[in-house]
Amino acid sequence: MRILTGIQASGKPHLGNILGAIMPAVELSKQPGNDSFLFIADLHTLTSLKDGESIRSNTLSIAAAWLAFGFDTEKNYFYRQSKLAAYHTELMWYLNCFTPFPMLANAHSFKDKSDKLSDVNAGLFTYPVLQAADIVLYDAQIIPVGKDQRQHIEMTRDIANSVNKRYNKAIFVLPEARINEEVMTIPGLDGAKMSKSLNNYIDIFLPEKDLLKQIKKIVTDTTPLEEPKNPDNDITFKLYQLMASPAQVAEMRANYEAGGYGYGHAKQALHELMLGYFKEAREKFDYFIAHPEIIEEKLAIGEKKVQPIAEATIARIRAEFKF
Ligand code: ADP
Ligand code: TRP
Repeated sequence: MRILTGIQASGKPHLGNILGAIMPAVELSKQPGNDSFLFIADLHTLTSLKDGESIRSNTLSIAAAWLAFGFDTEKNYFYRQSKLAAYHTELMWYLNCFTPFPMLANAHSFKDKSDKLSDVNAGLFTYPVLQAADIVLYDAQIIPVGKDQRQHIEMTRDIANSVNKRYNKAIFVLPEARINEEVMTIPGLDGAKMSKSLNNYIDIFLPEKDLLKQIKKIVTDTTPLEEPKNPDNDITFKLYQLMASPAQVAEMRANYEAGGYGYGHAKQALHELMLGYFKEAREKFDYFIAHPEIIEEKLAIGEKKVQPIAEATIARIRAEFKF
């Protein structure tokens, strides 16, 4: 199977990105018979971030995170979208001409973003078409993403399918979203979806003390320490559950329900759990951040490797237009 997923260079990857996207994608990439395309969607990033230094440093931290979680760049494909911009944007233009205007106008993500952001640019509007190009350019079959991306993948299928129908041949592969149901939406510090843009995220790569400080910001109710608590309403417990073993979860649940166990204790336990769970990844991340030249080299190799695949797809669609 051909797997593909992208992540925007709009910040350092947080716990939501890692559990929701990076870890499942790396897992899939390890299965024999799969080849995986993992890329930094830095063209998409421009819809919300214009500062080049920030884009560059976010790109490095995202790449370091994928490497830290064991993504094998020799077996797979690892690249920046901007380094293949000519292919991605050319294909996007063609797909634009097959995309009904109302499909974009009714997209959830556009509605959300245009309500929230002050800079409502045309890039935000056509964002799903660039994403469709990212996907069909490499004949991707499976797209591991978080739940919020489901509609974008459906739009990709619809657009690709209109092209195939119009020319009556399978020019593009129709992709399928792979959504990990268990970790569909990782809650943030305030209980809303953990997100860079909401600034409610946990950065697992912070030094130990700073990580604890961040965990302490998780919102709780005001049940006093001595009283029993309902774990299922609590954000700290929800996060703990995502990384703990069944025995650890059962023990934590009992602590909450017994009383005499405060949210502060639970947060300490979450901190400890995370330091253990991410020990190796944290060490590797620091190593790659200290050696950006290694990251650069791996990306440059990947960018060379994907180029002929992109070129072949472009040739296939151009042929239909006699371009
Ligand atoms: P953010 O929402 O922080 O801006 P992105 O939109 O760059 O993150 O998301 C990158 C990937 O991580 C996508 O596949 C997205 O669905 C996934 N993801 C982001 N936040 C979460 C979350 N809170 N829970 C599950 N998956 C998430
Ligand atoms: N829109 C995705 C996000 O915000 C990032 C992305 C861009 C992507 N192109 C993609 C994801 C192609 C999967 C496939 O998370």
